[in-house]
Amino acid sequence: MTEQRFLHGQWSSRMAFILAASGSAIGLGNIWKFPYLAGDNGGGAFVIVYLLCVVAIGIPLMIAETMIGRRGRQSPINTMLTLAEEAKASRHWHYAGWLGVAAGFLILSYYSVIAGWSMAYILKVGGGFLANADAQTVQAAFLDLKAAPDIQAIWHTVFMAGTLLIVSRGVHRGLERATRIMMPGLLAMLVLLDIYAMTTGGFGQGLAFLFEPDFGKLSGESVLVAMGQAFFSLGLGMGSIMVYGSYLPDHVSIARASIIVATADTAVALMAGIAIFPIVFAHHLEPGMGPGLIFETLPIAFGQMPGGSWFGLVFFLLVFFAAITSAIALIEPAVAYLSENLGLNRTAASWWSGAVCWLLGLGTVYSFSGGENGSSRNFFEWVDFLTADVMLPIGGILVAVFASWVIKREVSEAELAMGAAYAWWRALARYVAPGAVALVFLHAIGVL
Ligand code: PHE
Repeated sequence: MTEQRFLHGQWSSRMAFILAASGSAIGLGNIWKFPYLAGDNGGGAFVIVYLLCVVAIGIPLMIAETMIGRRGRQSPINTMLTLAEEAKASRHWHYAGWLGVAAGFLILSYYSVIAGWSMAYILKVGGGFLANADAQTVQAAFLDLKAAPDIQAIWHTVFMAGTLLIVSRGVHRGLERATRIMMPGLLAMLVLLDIYAMTTGGFGQGLAFLFEPDFGKLSGESVLVAMGQAFFSLGLGMGSIMVYGSYLPDHVSIARASIIVATADTAVALMAGIAIFPIVFAHHLEPGMGPGLIFETLPIAFGQMPGGSWFGLVFFLLVFFAAITSAIALIEPAVAYLSENLGLNRTAASWWSGAVCWLLGLGTVYSFSGGENGSSRNFFEWVDFLTADVMLPIGGILVAVFASWVIKREVSEAELAMGAAYAWWRALARYVAPGAVALVFLHAIGVL
């Protein structure tokens, strides 16, 4: 396998990997989705189930996926093929890689549209739109944006182009440099917003909402959503962290790096909730507003607060930074595959993959202009459900099973080099993670 080492480049240090993987994990999932899901699913109890999923399923899986990547050193599809052959297992395993690439395309297609909204807001809020804006004005602005497919399509195009510019510059000059600059910036902005939230009257209520569990509010469906969100937020089950693992130098401890990344991701989701809910409650607004929480509810509050325009601008910049460092991870598996198998150079591979995601994204652009269509899912909701609640968990089970049942024990033990903790990882990856995912599925479809 030596001739295949570092086909696309490698991270220059452990820190570079941690920043890039955190960049992949921390995204719209933390700042846009986690708060509105927690809001829709009743708060505290949802948060606890979410945390359990991160610890029992998320971390072992992140270790498994990164390890597979580092061992295979290629795009997820070819890595699965190579490692399956090495373990004398079926070549069909490489379909798990395909599933991941497909999920990445689907997620990025809508991700780019929502990230485009954040860019539209940066411009609007930066232009002083929020100064003394009343609730009606803010609501009308969001409705106008949703009803304007052309404007959304423009921002979707701009965001996608920005993503592709970074990706086409390569692992070192593109992914690594972007995350090295943006991740510290993101953290600083979030801390600032948390401090601001503490000064609002809703801080206690916001904390209580996030951390006081009321299990009566938890349905079977919410448990599935919490699990799906853990996969989505950690960026698991679709090859992103696998391809990032394939650029990881040999000596880095995968377990330690995974725990750091998962902790950072969880901390940022909670910090986003701690920034958002107090502001929402201080203005007597509803936490359960769905995807509009940060684009409609939150700006209403900002419009009425001292310094709201400033903090609003910081907030949407934060959303944008978080989104673009995840977008590059969503497309990297496809880019790596196209350069390996079709011999395309990085630039061509990036733009071709981006073009496909861009086209798919138009479906989401038009999902929001149709207004509410009762209880049936629109295009965006279908793509979201299919990816986060179905494809990622299935991809995750396949990764866990492959890493802990198919790959030989000597291989994973050597690759992980984690001493006595290895037995823990193995038990979690072999039994707990696949078992828990299966249980949650069966429960959600009503079998259990
Ligand atoms: N983890 C990202 C987020 O929370 C989304 C993502 C999913 C990134 C899958 C990479 C892979 O927004």
